[in-house]
Amino acid sequence: MKPRTSNEIRQAFLEFFNELNHEIVPSAPLPQHDNPTLLFTNAGMNQFVDVFLGKEKRPYSRATSSQKCMRVQGKHNDLENVGPSPRHHTFFEMLGNFSFGDYFKEGAIRFAYDFMTKVCQIPADKLYFTVHTSDDEAYDIWANKVGVPPSHILRMGDKTNFWMMGDVGPCGPTSEIHYDWGPEACTCGRPDCSVLLDNDCDRWLEVWNLVFMQYDQAEDGTRTLLPKPGVDTGMGLERITSVVQGTPVNYNNDLFAPAMDRVQAMLGDTAEERQEKYVGYRVIADHGRAATFLIADGVRPGAAGAGYVLRMIIRRAARFGRQIGFQQPFLADVAQVYIDQMGEAYPELRQRAEHIRHTLTQEERRFARTLDAALSQLITILEEMDEKGEKEIDGQTAFNLYATY
Ligand code: GLY
Repeated sequence: MKPRTSNEIRQAFLEFFNELNHEIVPSAPLPQHDNPTLLFTNAGMNQFVDVFLGKEKRPYSRATSSQKCMRVQGKHNDLENVGPSPRHHTFFEMLGNFSFGDYFKEGAIRFAYDFMTKVCQIPADKLYFTVHTSDDEAYDIWANKVGVPPSHILRMGDKTNFWMMGDVGPCGPTSEIHYDWGPEACTCGRPDCSVLLDNDCDRWLEVWNLVFMQYDQAEDGTRTLLPKPGVDTGMGLERITSVVQGTPVNYNNDLFAPAMDRVQAMLGDTAEERQEKYVGYRVIADHGRAATFLIADGVRPGAAGAGYVLRMIIRRAARFGRQIGFQQPFLADVAQVYIDQMGEAYPELRQRAEHIRHTLTQEERRFARTLDAALSQLITILEEMDEKGEKEIDGQTAFNLYATY
């Protein structure tokens, strides 16, 4: 049966690959304790780096997972896109299948195509497939083994079709699967609108990235061949859910809509008011979820590292919350929606529910006090400027306000 809800899609993905002899591996925690280049897990493959490098052996050569990821620092940083963008998130779930010296390009491509067209029943003519300009083998598999028409296979360069998790480590050329929302969804207005333009047009949604792991990149940029080539794929659950549920804006699918509804109910907003304030609603739904998962994984708001990021996203959500009408802490209520909705797939949410709610409310209160102090400082500064007939806050004062508050 075709999966419809996000919980069903996650389950269908893991079962599909499990039937293809993939070990279902639980998500690793979000904080990366042993990796100096990465604060948070940013891809499903992070927990398998040493397996790709041949330094670690596992009792399986195929794996699948639904990995909790954060992309808020380093090479993959989506923070500023959250809110305006319909499809970028700080926290997201990455569905992945992995081969450690087992199948390679043909297996990865066939499995992905079957999951999309047979399990999710997405019409094949809505899908476009990119391959690296140099990758004749992947092109040939899509064209001649899967039977995709040449007009739906696009060759692109390193920017889109070469993937690495950071500046060092396992990497390789990719093949991406894009979904076409149709010409009516075009926001770039170009007559030649296409995935090839790579211009963030809302018509095209990159859904799944198939990485053909071949190299280990060193700090100086040199690449050596991995002991055995492998496969690492990543598909955002948020995006495939939007495709299956027909919601071009991720916040309208069943992963986010319940939290957005809760915000609306708390504010007593009409549908029009909710629409007018959509950036604030999205930031709260996104950051509230990210903070919930970070706290569940043991992160505490703090002044450095992972704790600083948590503090920043709670405060960013609180600030947007004030702008759209909240006068009291509200994030614990948003967190509860996610705890109820995702607690089965991620039991740590239920186990630490009380701690999550308490941490959020405490941080919101602390921030409210800070913000009130900052606003009174700002008013004093503005009054002094007024007296002197000045129109601009000097850089040092602005920086002090930002850095302190
Ligand atoms: N590891 C593949 C991706 O994150 O796109």
